[in-house]
Amino acid sequence: MQQQKIIILDFGSQTTQLIARRLRELDTFCEILPYNKFPVGDPDVIGVILSGSPYSVHDPEAFKVDLSQFVGRLPVLGICYGAQFISHTLGGRVEKADSREYGRAHLETVDTSNPLFKGFDQNSQVWMSHGDTITAIPDGFEVIGSTKDVKYAAFWSPSPLGKGRGEAAVFAAQFHPEVFHSLQGTLLLKNFVVDICGSRQDWSPANFVDTTVAELRKQIGSDRVILGLSGGVDSSVAAVLLNRAIGNQLTCIFVDHGMLRKNEFRNVMKDYECLGLNVIGVDASQKFFADLAGATEPEQKRKIIGRDFIEVFNAEAKKIVNSKSSNSKCKWLAQGTIYPDRIESLNITGKVIKSHHNVGGLPEEMNLKLCEPLKWLFKDEVRRVGRQLGIPEHLIGRHPFPGPGLAVRILGEITPEKVRILQDADDIFIQGLRDWGLYDQIWQAGAILLSDVRSVGVMGDERTYENPVALRAVTSTDAMTADWAHLPYEFLAKVSNDIINKVKGVNRVCYDISSKPPSTIEWE
Ligand code: XMP
Repeated sequence: MQQQKIIILDFGSQTTQLIARRLRELDTFCEILPYNKFPVGDPDVIGVILSGSPYSVHDPEAFKVDLSQFVGRLPVLGICYGAQFISHTLGGRVEKADSREYGRAHLETVDTSNPLFKGFDQNSQVWMSHGDTITAIPDGFEVIGSTKDVKYAAFWSPSPLGKGRGEAAVFAAQFHPEVFHSLQGTLLLKNFVVDICGSRQDWSPANFVDTTVAELRKQIGSDRVILGLSGGVDSSVAAVLLNRAIGNQLTCIFVDHGMLRKNEFRNVMKDYECLGLNVIGVDASQKFFADLAGATEPEQKRKIIGRDFIEVFNAEAKKIVNSKSSNSKCKWLAQGTIYPDRIESLNITGKVIKSHHNVGGLPEEMNLKLCEPLKWLFKDEVRRVGRQLGIPEHLIGRHPFPGPGLAVRILGEITPEKVRILQDADDIFIQGLRDWGLYDQIWQAGAILLSDVRSVGVMGDERTYENPVALRAVTSTDAMTADWAHLPYEFLAKVSNDIINKVKGVNRVCYDISSKPPSTIEWE
């Protein structure tokens, strides 16, 4: 049977991959492709979504697509810039808004008889983020949703080329149905992919393990494979999947750069051994600390860590590749790369907000081929696969943790002493979240050491002059947008007290109440 798919054309929006994620949640396979790479003639495509963009349709460098490739033949949904592009190109009008429209809005009128809005409530909350506004829609189009400030919040045409010339409808939404804050956004996308495009909703990770294990066996044969473990969910699931496919032909390398959480290296090594993985643990913390000395700028710290990581990993990998102790050759480097990592690296605008640190750059002379068994999966799908593989819940449910670790949570220069202080504070916070049953409600949490800031305090009869620690806990579904977690005051009071009393060097605790955007989750 044909593998149905929706094509999402990427015009460079930060939320493009969220659209894909939502469709996967609807058990519908989809691919994100650059705006100008529509696969003309692919019979598996059942619908097209045009994403948002950082550009205005009036910018000379704005991305453009030839709509005639699919309009009228396949159902189309334009989102934000996608909606503006449809309007602009098919004869409507888009103008600069007096002020950027950003944040929550409500659909004060919504045509629930339209297939896109089936089941919608009146006044449904949607999320806006746009600089331009649509002031006229093309002939043959009809408004189906408006907010207080945006008359053309959604519009459609059942036959965009004119009656009798292709019956696939075009829909356009000025708001972002893919983001969490558009409360009925998933319903809108479901209406589009299931009712309008006819998705059978048969993409699911349930069969993923069996098919991937079989594919990996075929691909790898009797070769050996190396894989870098980070303690995180992705690399752990990739390792267990590979281990199921090829057993001890897999050797894993886990590098301790010295900036992991308190006792993390030891605990995770134990977990890995229990899972039957063949793991080499490398304590390289001294090298990392020495190379980081004097570095204060966030991107500089990231680059040093990335470079050192590759050096240490390569040295270990070389030993395995050149090892004479086995007949089969090591020909593969496996990575826990997931779909969002690849989309980020494909980002068509080339705008980097923060560089992400990944294992990579093995010297070419090693001649290793890349094996990425999770490359089509989103984070939640990786977790589901992990559960299917019997990985314990505390490994699967663990919060994401950045590759450069506590280095990006110590503002200023990194020293072993500062890491120790932060590890202790962070441990109290995280253990507290677990003890209070809050850990699983939070996407990610951690402590940040403001090591260049000192403030006065009093402990007993003594004046102190020490650093503050900021606590950060966010709720999110994907880390693309996040809100600060509304943790109970009693909990914050207890953690603050414990940290100040138990962690020498800290005399003040603050709680970060910034959302993303405009802030990021990490402070650096
Ligand atoms: P931000 O700070 O950009 O973070 O809101 C989004 C998510 O990415 C994680 N993060 C990183 N992960 N290397 C990583 O492996 C990095 O350099 C890095 N920077 C941020 C962050 O922890 C959050 O989950």
